[in-house]
Order: sequence, then C-alpha cells, then structure tokens
Amino acid sequence: MIYLIDLFCGAGGFSEGARQSGAVVILAVDRWRAALDVHAANHTTPSASCEHWCEELGGDPEAFATRLRHVVSRRVPPGGHVHLHASPPCQNLCGANTRRREGEGLRLVEWSFKLMECCAEFHSFTVEQVASPTLLRTYEHIPHRVYDMSVHGVPQIRKRVIFGDAPMLPVLRQIPLPARALEVPALEPLAGCVAPRTLCAVGGPLAKRLEGM
Ligand SMILES: C[S@@+](CC[C@H](N)C(=O)[O-])C[C@H]1O[C@@H](n2cnc3c(N)ncnc32)[C@H](O)[C@@H]1O
Repeated sequence: MIYLIDLFCGAGGFSEGARQSGAVVILAVDRWRAALDVHAANHTTPSASCEHWCEELGGDPEAFATRLRHVVSRRVPPGGHVHLHASPPCQNLCGANTRRREGEGLRLVEWSFKLMECCAEFHSFTVEQVASPTLLRTYEHIPHRVYDMSVHGVPQIRKRVIFGDAPMLPVLRQIPLPARALEVPALEPLAGCVAPRTLCAVGGPLAKRLEGM
C-alpha cells in the first residue's frame, strides 16, 4: 500500500488521482484554506482520514521533515510505502506570465528538493512543475520526465515535468485540440535566471538512491 503526503495540495488533483490508483492520502498541506476545505471534503472518510495542515510552506526543511516523520509514525503501518509529493506554484515559472519572477518560482522548487533530501528514508518522491526551460536547465541532473498532458488523457495542452520517481505513463489516444490551442507559441528562451544547484546533485542520499533511473 502507498501512503501519500501531498504538499501544495490545492483542492486535491494529485491526491484524487493517487486515491483512484489505490493510494491512501495521509497528509495534505496548503496555505489556501478554501482549497484545503475542498480537499478535506473529498479525503475524509471514517476508514481513512487524512490530516490537513493550512500553513505557509518554505521554512526550515529539516524542522518540517521532523513533523512529517511524526505523521508517518502515527499513520503508516510497518512495511507501508511512503510517497512524498510536492507541486509548488508555477505562476513565476510559466512562460505565459510575462511578468514572472523565475528566482521566486525556483525558491519553492528548491525547498521541495531540500525537503526530499531531508526525508530520504521515505520510499519515493515526486515534484511536479510546468516544464519551463529555466527549471529544466537548473535541475537537469535530477531524474525527470516531461509529459505532454494531452496525450495522457488530460484535457489541456500544457507540458508538465515530474522529477523523482515518475512513471512512464501509457500514451493514450491523441485528443483532438481546437485549432486556436495549437497556435500557442513555444516558451520564451531562457531569461538568464541564476539559481543555486540543489544539494540533491552532489552525492546526497537522494541522488544515490535515484542513480540509474
Ligand atoms: C500548482 S497548485 C497545486 C495543485 C494541486 N497539487 C493539484 O494537483 O490540484 C499550487 C498550490 O500551492 C499553494 N501554495 C503556494 N505557495 C504556497 C506556500 N508558500 N505554502 C503553502 N501553499 C502554497 C497554492 O495555494 C496552490 O494551491
């Protein structure tokens, strides 16, 4: 059984897909109360209730990892597979946002990777983002796959990147898109943003575990 921790959970798109695939969502975190309430309405049952934390993510990753371990010790039986997922906000990395601040966009991605590094004893992790050139260049060393969502049954043309233990999804029947959607221009070239390379790169426990993926 897979036990999911969903960070930046929003109203629960990722959680719901995981639930439908047989996972149990044990913790969902977001700073947006209304979205979290929707998540709670969908993921609270007598047999499997999920914890909901309404708070700002991005602080000390080690301290947050300690809190996650407490949740795991309370909610995951011995032998359970713990999956840690984060989908930090994409507005500041999305090419469609001409006023994006990529440094700010990368901040919570970097925090997510640092957190995963702190939680390296968990069994798998994923970080989801918009497939921005700056992001892909900054974290090219972390295993990832880019998905064209329209060929995986999702009614949108965006490309998303998933870092970590991302599956090779089956390509479904191509969904016909309206002509206007096909005119969307390619992402802007790199905006010259410089970001620190994450600790995951250099021989950390997470990097070692992911070697060979
Ligand atoms: C990409 S959306 C999440 C989508 C969601 N994972 C899903 O599958 O439906 C990003 C979420 O991050 C939340 N968020 C942005 N900055 C945050 C922060 N510093 N701490 C906690 N949540 C944050 C937003 O409220 C938003 O719900």
